[in-house]
Amino acid sequence: MTFQPAPWPRRLRSQEWYGGDSRDHIYHRSWMKNQGLPADLFDGRPVIGICNTWSELTPCNAHLRDLAQRVKNGIYEAGGLPLEFPVFSTGESSLRPSAMMYRNLAAMDVEEALRANPLDGVVLMVGCDKTTPALLMGAASVDLPAIVVTGGPMLNGWFRGERVGSGTALWQMSEAIKAGEMSREDFLEAEQAMSRSPGSCNTMGTASTMASMAEALGMALSGNAAIPAVDSRRRVMAQLTGRRIVQMVKDDLKPSDVLTREAFENAIRCNGAIGGSTNAVIHLLALAGRAGVDLTLDDWDRLGRDIPTIVNLMPSGDYLMEEFFYAGGLPVVLKRLGEAGLLHRDALTVSGESAWEQVKDARNWNEEVIRPVERALTASGGIAVLNGNLAPKGAVLKPSAASPHLMTHRGRAVVFEDIDDYKARIEDEDLDIDETCVMVLKNCGPKGYPGMAEVGNMGLPPKVLRKGIKDMIRISDARMSGTAYGTVILHVSPEAAVGGPLAVVRSGDMIELDVAARRLHLDVPEAELQARLAAWTPAAPAPSGGYAQLFHTHVEGADTGADFDFLRGRRGKEVPRDSH
Ligand code: FES
Repeated sequence: MTFQPAPWPRRLRSQEWYGGDSRDHIYHRSWMKNQGLPADLFDGRPVIGICNTWSELTPCNAHLRDLAQRVKNGIYEAGGLPLEFPVFSTGESSLRPSAMMYRNLAAMDVEEALRANPLDGVVLMVGCDKTTPALLMGAASVDLPAIVVTGGPMLNGWFRGERVGSGTALWQMSEAIKAGEMSREDFLEAEQAMSRSPGSCNTMGTASTMASMAEALGMALSGNAAIPAVDSRRRVMAQLTGRRIVQMVKDDLKPSDVLTREAFENAIRCNGAIGGSTNAVIHLLALAGRAGVDLTLDDWDRLGRDIPTIVNLMPSGDYLMEEFFYAGGLPVVLKRLGEAGLLHRDALTVSGESAWEQVKDARNWNEEVIRPVERALTASGGIAVLNGNLAPKGAVLKPSAASPHLMTHRGRAVVFEDIDDYKARIEDEDLDIDETCVMVLKNCGPKGYPGMAEVGNMGLPPKVLRKGIKDMIRISDARMSGTAYGTVILHVSPEAAVGGPLAVVRSGDMIELDVAARRLHLDVPEAELQARLAAWTPAAPAPSGGYAQLFHTHVEGADTGADFDFLRGRRGKEVPRDSH
């Protein structure tokens, strides 16, 4: 794609607020000056918002105030006026019922803040899982020049000589306790070892995946995704991002120039190569909806099918983000895709250069961390999209995190009606279950939980774990943490709470999985299935009042990204009138 920069200088949007001598212009400027801003900062230079998800309730983003200062330095250096503002921060580790319930709220916050304020461009400061898609979605709907800078991952966790991966170790250790292989005292001691520096999860979980997606989409500067939060180069990246957004405003380089179909295809293939989170499926579908790109679940399956996973990071592999950075980071992966003919080389990035121009000189410094294709972790690392009478609108599975021996399986369903039912019965020694069964969890989708919690990787029953079994097939309409692993079928659509076939599965039914054929089948006669569906009634009443009601009324299915129906598309930057 050839990008034609806009002529410069020209009158910017912010001058509608600041550029004149009317009563309203004076009003807008004068109140800003109570912050000690000199008059010449309102002279027509680019006004850049720093949209910050800093919050002490979002520990992964708690260092972003400091990083914002580096962004400001860069904006000032390039001749812009930086103005930092907070938006709703979706902290994955604390928010109830689920951070995902608030992604769309944060996206609305961002969209309205960008449109309503005198901004010419914006730096999106993100880190923890949902903060990245939320800010990208809001920015895409407004379409002011925008660029992402992430907070960066935590340093490696270490416990007794072993790497401790955020989230991944938590799931492994809690299973080890149930199996009688680890003491609770050791578990408590490992707690601090998991989180030893500022930053987001250090595995290739959802935060690192979404940072990689932002870079692969072309919405962040090259190399942004992997730099650890505490590395001095993270601050350099923030400063360079600040400089870059000023030029983007001058050139009028907008998300609509970058977020093209080619960009999404690059990101999907990249996700396969890094062994990225299944959550990227939902977030990219939602972002594509904002950007007006017709992206579907089928695109995920088709584009990722032949992509080997070459990044050897937990949860699929052995290493952590710190080592990924030392090995060369995402530019190495994108270069590999480009060399294999699997990258749209001409896709434009926020740098003003093409995707290929940005990565063509990248070098791999550690072939154990970023492996050659011949030693890929998984030959087909993309997201497998399953269909069948149990998931008429699709379901997803991450082959690189699954067990090869379970990829073709027929087993007896053991059904949990919701997550509380699961918690109440899973440790019951009399539960009729063994490792050949298929665990089924209902009512954890977008409307059902609400917010589609990361509970799809439900832990195995203790009596199975004690046999040394580490994996069973699990099926739900939930999501799972990007740090989790296992043969876990997620995002079953339509979800149980709206009467999808998942709602009528009964314990004892037989379920067939054939990943190679992309088939997920409930072996119940069609007439019987239809009779069950006709008799179905919702398990719980719809919430009344507040955001929960808005969410329940308008959230769409996982198969299209779980955005609100009224938020799809681009609404632009225009505001109808001044307020005074
Ligand atoms: Fe915030 Fe993992 S919990 S990045």
